[in-house]
Amino acid sequence: MPFTVPDLPYAYDALEPTIDKETMTLHHDKHHAAYVNNLNAAIEKHPELAGKSVEELIKNLNAVPEDIRGAVRNNGGGHINHSMFWTIMGPNAGGDPKGALSDAIKSTFGDVETFKTQFNDAGVKQFGSGWAWLVFTADGKLQITSTPNQDNPMSAGQYPVMGNDVWEHAYYLKYQNRRPDYLKAWWNVVNWDAVAKRFDAGKK
Ligand SMILES: [Fe+2]
Repeated sequence: MPFTVPDLPYAYDALEPTIDKETMTLHHDKHHAAYVNNLNAAIEKHPELAGKSVEELIKNLNAVPEDIRGAVRNNGGGHINHSMFWTIMGPNAGGDPKGALSDAIKSTFGDVETFKTQFNDAGVKQFGSGWAWLVFTADGKLQITSTPNQDNPMSAGQYPVMGNDVWEHAYYLKYQNRRPDYLKAWWNVVNWDAVAKRFDAGKK
């Protein structure tokens, strides 16, 4: 099988109390695993795609054969989105960004609090399932966006610096219908060092 679920880089209960162990276990072991299984099943129908990375597939969905394009968009997106998501969170995290990332956020959004508020707002307003993002646009500007379902900004020529999962499976056990509370609390587990690495990679 070409694609596999990466191990969580910390324990399932490491993000408590912000994200509970049961949510992390189901989210990683069941939801992410389902995206990977479905992606592998789709790719199996087209052996010519073997060896392509999920990034390559998602960046150029039009090159994916039409009969599996929807499956790759949804499940390849689910795989790439969650693979990022686990790495940009961590225990003993939170606080504020540092260095060049901090400078860029401040020059774009005014200050970090305003940035967080606008990011949360994008997550709240994303109707139904989806993601809130901080991206580099195609012309290299930082921007807050959201996408439905498992769509990844790479499919639109953008680079995802960070994203928060606003599917109910990400928060429902602990926060029930209170998506805004989850979005606010999530900053406590953001691993800014990991986000800064993505920022540096996206700038290039
Ligand atoms: Fe998710």
